[in-house]
Amino acid sequence: MFVKLKQRWNVNNTNLVLIFFTFALGGSLCGYLGRLLLSVTRLESGPAGVILYIIIVTLLWPLCVLLISILLGQFSFFRKYLEKVWARLSGKKNREIIKVAIFASGAGSNAEKIIQKFNQPDRNTNKAEVKSQGEKGPKAMITLIVCNKPGAGVLQVAKSANIETLLIDKDRFLKGDHYLPILKRHGIDFIVLAGFLWKIPAGIIQAYPNKIVNIHPALLPRHGGKGMYGAKVHEAVIAAGDKQSGITIHYVDELYDHGNVILQATCDLGEDETPETLAEKIHLLEHEHYPALLERLLQNVK
Ligand code: GRF
Repeated sequence: MFVKLKQRWNVNNTNLVLIFFTFALGGSLCGYLGRLLLSVTRLESGPAGVILYIIIVTLLWPLCVLLISILLGQFSFFRKYLEKVWARLSGKKNREIIKVAIFASGAGSNAEKIIQKFNQPDRNTNKAEVKSQGEKGPKAMITLIVCNKPGAGVLQVAKSANIETLLIDKDRFLKGDHYLPILKRHGIDFIVLAGFLWKIPAGIIQAYPNKIVNIHPALLPRHGGKGMYGAKVHEAVIAAGDKQSGITIHYVDELYDHGNVILQATCDLGEDETPETLAEKIHLLEHEHYPALLERLLQNVK
């Protein structure tokens, strides 16, 4: 039961204990103050007294709990808790959180920028929490990093941001149905590829129609396809004598680097361009456009 509560409230053991204390002390304080106020009204006995006591306690309880939560360092939890209670009581449905998984197996610089855009660390629990993204759109949050490479930089990025990771196995992934239930169990609504080289199996694509996007470090349809990744792409661009390169963000279908293009951004190649200098230009474009585009896309999910 406690394990479930910890997961549901996204807190550690210490915070859970402090939350229980806050409920207990807040409740006692509320009961004490309620009786005190009731005695002032001289209506202690009889049905009127009972009704008045219930009204007083109902109004006092949130205040008492908030007061104790400040003393025990749990204010941020209880503020949100009471907001949720209020939203339920007043019939306002909470906007659902769109849970996003990033699939990445490289350094993770794109993953890091995307996480910075959507998640912010909760100072209380040291866990990631959703960043406010305006009143209109749904809130989105990166809740899982899927990676196929032990030791990849993106795993460190995930660790620093307190985001859960899933290390996947090639055979099981490519067979197509092993990881889908796991993604569903994590409640994943949307998948972002950011430096992930394996082809996404049909089962996952069908389960996430128009909900999987990829970024490619060139202007597709040029310089894409199997084996075209990292420095190889930039070498091919330079070898082809292209005057421009750029990035392509596209929906993922069952072919490599093939789905509908959502956005392209370009940069010019200099006379002495090398794969390394071009890679830097491309990364800048990626970091500028990928998180911003995702913010727009995620507002229309569900
Ligand atoms: C990016 O260049 C992206 O276009 C490609 O893989 C690279 C990942 O870089 N799909 P990083 O790991 O996000 O730094």
